[in-house]
Amino acid sequence: MSSVPSTYDTTRLMDGVVSLGSHAFPREPLGADTVVIEPTYMGICRADIKEIIGSRDVMEDRGPLFGHELVGTVFFAGADTGFEEGDPVTLNPNITPNRTTGFAEYVFVRGTKEELDEAVVRLPESEAGIGEGVWMPEPFACIVHALRKLLELTRQTSLAGKRVGIVGAGCAGLMFAMYARHLGASVVVFNRGEERRVFAREQGILAEGEIAALAEAGERRDAFDVVVVAPTVATAELLDVAAGLAADGAVLLVYGGTREGDRFPGGEVDVDAVRRSERIESVRHRGKRLDIAGAYGCGREDYEEGFRLHALHPERFPLERLASRRLDLAELPAFVMDAAAGVLDLPGKVLVRAGSRG
Ligand SMILES: NC(=O)c1ccc[n+]([C@@H]2O[C@H](COP(=O)([O-])OP(=O)(O)OC[C@H]3O[C@@H](n4cnc5c(N)ncnc54)[C@H](OP(=O)(O)O)[C@@H]3O)[C@@H](O)[C@H]2O)c1
Repeated sequence: MSSVPSTYDTTRLMDGVVSLGSHAFPREPLGADTVVIEPTYMGICRADIKEIIGSRDVMEDRGPLFGHELVGTVFFAGADTGFEEGDPVTLNPNITPNRTTGFAEYVFVRGTKEELDEAVVRLPESEAGIGEGVWMPEPFACIVHALRKLLELTRQTSLAGKRVGIVGAGCAGLMFAMYARHLGASVVVFNRGEERRVFAREQGILAEGEIAALAEAGERRDAFDVVVVAPTVATAELLDVAAGLAADGAVLLVYGGTREGDRFPGGEVDVDAVRRSERIESVRHRGKRLDIAGAYGCGREDYEEGFRLHALHPERFPLERLASRRLDLAELPAFVMDAAAGVLDLPGKVLVRAGSRG
């Protein structure tokens, strides 16, 4: 093992306040079942902000998400883990709650070899050189997982010729657009605010006809075979807008945040259960038959497919262009507290550089 520092910097989220402090480097957890990751870059996710303001249900089987997007290298690998020091890796936060926050100089993940094999995902050689073109594998793996799940639930093998409408041009909506186009669909992304619409066009992620104001959704009624609902929260109002965009017989994929008890307008379908247990249920809504499907989380195979897609089709998956700003770890607490207070809301992905102790 490289020399172990006596202290390391880590953030803490407590009672809605994020702080960064220097803490003793724990020696006790460095057992045979522990992998310690030294992040190079982390990504700020909407889920981080939701956890600060307490507007997200934390699942016990996977724990809090605050600080879950990262790429880095293995700093320490316990004897039973199957990893080696120096392995370039990323994290899948959907596997075990036995891990510390990724907004830190070191991240501790504990588990059986099988759990660690899923929770710590090796970066392929094509992605190992983390430099200028940084992108976050986890949110993309969730998108890969969600559209694969949609195909599985609807018994299709591609989206060839399908018209896909997407509600929300956040990071999720833009990655849905990339992958749906790759699967053969035409896409239109509807976004409420202008800033994200401009960002998507200026970054060359969406063409002129592929991005529209959410306020124009009424002009595109019944126009889509698939509608992906990918805003911060899949509110009843936004689900209703999405249902309006859908053609008779279309599928609505619920991806944006839901909470226990949330129901599809009309009350027939428990959208939170549909999303978290990845089901599909039919409803009648304003005279149309719609299938409501959900997807949640991702697995190692989704990361691997994401790496493969990015390596084979860099022009179709310009994931690096989602990055809108880079911060140092020291700047993170003030930034996320401003985001939580609603005074700052940048489009795209904000990346955080890990501090270097030389
Ligand atoms: N199912 C899963 O496995 C999974 C995995 C990861 C994330 N998610 C979900 O995906 C959501 C979106 O993530 P993201 O990374 O795309 O977030 P993001 O980059 O912060 O984008 C948020 C999007 O939501 C829109 N929005 C927020 N409030 C709105 C409102 N009241 N009406 C209309 N649009 C609104 C924003 O539009 P404006 O530009 O107008 O503000 C923006 O397009 C997360 O909150 C999380 O719940 C799901």
